[in-house]
Amino acid sequence: MAQLQAPKGVPEYFPPRSSAFLAVRDALAAPARLAGYGYAELPVFEDTALYVRGVGESTDVVAKEMYTFEDRGGRSLSLRPEGTAGVMRLVIEHGLDRGQLPVKLWYSGPFFRAERPQQGRYRQLQQVGIEAIGSMDPALDAEVIAIADAGFRSLGLQQFTLQLTSLGCANCRPSYRLLLQEFLTGLVLDEATRARAAINPLRVLDDKRPDVQAQLMGAPYMVDHLCVECREHYDEVRQHLRAVGVEWTEAPSLVRGLDYYTRTAFEFSHSLLGAQSGIGGGGRYDGLMESLGGQALSGIGFGIGTDRTLLACEAESLDIGSATLVDVFAVPMGVAAKQKLVALGAELRRSGIRFDLAFGDRGLKGAMKAADRSGAPWVLVLGEQELADGTVVIRDMSLGEQRTVAWESVQPILAQNIQGTEGAHS
Ligand code: HAM
Repeated sequence: MAQLQAPKGVPEYFPPRSSAFLAVRDALAAPARLAGYGYAELPVFEDTALYVRGVGESTDVVAKEMYTFEDRGGRSLSLRPEGTAGVMRLVIEHGLDRGQLPVKLWYSGPFFRAERPQQGRYRQLQQVGIEAIGSMDPALDAEVIAIADAGFRSLGLQQFTLQLTSLGCANCRPSYRLLLQEFLTGLVLDEATRARAAINPLRVLDDKRPDVQAQLMGAPYMVDHLCVECREHYDEVRQHLRAVGVEWTEAPSLVRGLDYYTRTAFEFSHSLLGAQSGIGGGGRYDGLMESLGGQALSGIGFGIGTDRTLLACEAESLDIGSATLVDVFAVPMGVAAKQKLVALGAELRRSGIRFDLAFGDRGLKGAMKAADRSGAPWVLVLGEQELADGTVVIRDMSLGEQRTVAWESVQPILAQNIQGTEGAHS
């Protein structure tokens, strides 16, 4: 039988690397929790219509990359390609928008896009995201951006930059769109690009091909054609960002891959990640909730790529997440010793000290090898002699020193040497 394998383009995390993955995820969520964002657990699949209406029918994400299937009742469902549309649906369905505004939520988990897999581009990708719904205040835009920035910084990342622009609104974008279309008509473009220019001309600005890029010199930019309200909003966002010390570069040609964006749009990229350098992105989406049948409430949020942020940390050689899974590894010789150590282990774990044991009666040599491999800084050995004497051997693995101590004193010794408070290792 052929060896079973995980589907292509699906990164898996397991020890020792998975502890770094968890550390990244938690670090990215922490600044949102400090700012009053509550957790939302969202479905991994939804009605296909939600994404068609919310994200946009003509986006690559919806048109080419969705995993769509029929369920047993013949309904069309799709694995979620992103989180914003689902959060909107949840807020509308459960009436969260009728309570205190803005509604602030964070989420985390897998998303699915049928892209061509490569390093940093996956078909199952992980994101930590936040959404703040129901306020037009530019200070909220700055808060959202500052939360992403704080998450990256708390991990120790340095080689990342923030690109920022404003995409205008329903008032100023249509006339800018015409202006851009007019400009694009004068260029030498292939059939497919012309078709794109007709449907979504902004996307042409994002064309990476050098011959297209060369022709785009002198193209009109949205930021230069904002209406007064959008300009004032954007100015205020930048004032707040300056005040909180977030640095950015103006990115007038920034185009997001999803259709719902209005006004503030941003992307974070990391300089050591090559082609897949986008570690996070987001923006305002002032018409999204209404287009999904809810109130006309604005919103802003981001999605940060957890996988890519981990890759960025590794590229910067940052030491994150503890690679060792336990603080104490115990080696029992015989059943009576095992019982005693199992009971001690339960107590240690209750006090937040991570504990593991040599299972399987494999003899002292094999058990000591397991102790070594565990990476635990402390090893306990309980043999017949110690059992009879009421003692235990405690070995400090970092110094390579061991001593025999009274059984009663082992727990205080460990507690003193290991900062084993609950949550210290979470
Ligand atoms: P997005 O820019 O499509 O935005 O994705 C956000 C982040 O997810 C990207 O910056 C990237 O780090 C990561 N990502 C996306 N696709 C892949 C992939 N194939 N493999 C690995 N990582 C990937 C959104 O999804 C919006 N929902 C963000 C948002 C929230 N906007 C407003 N609120």
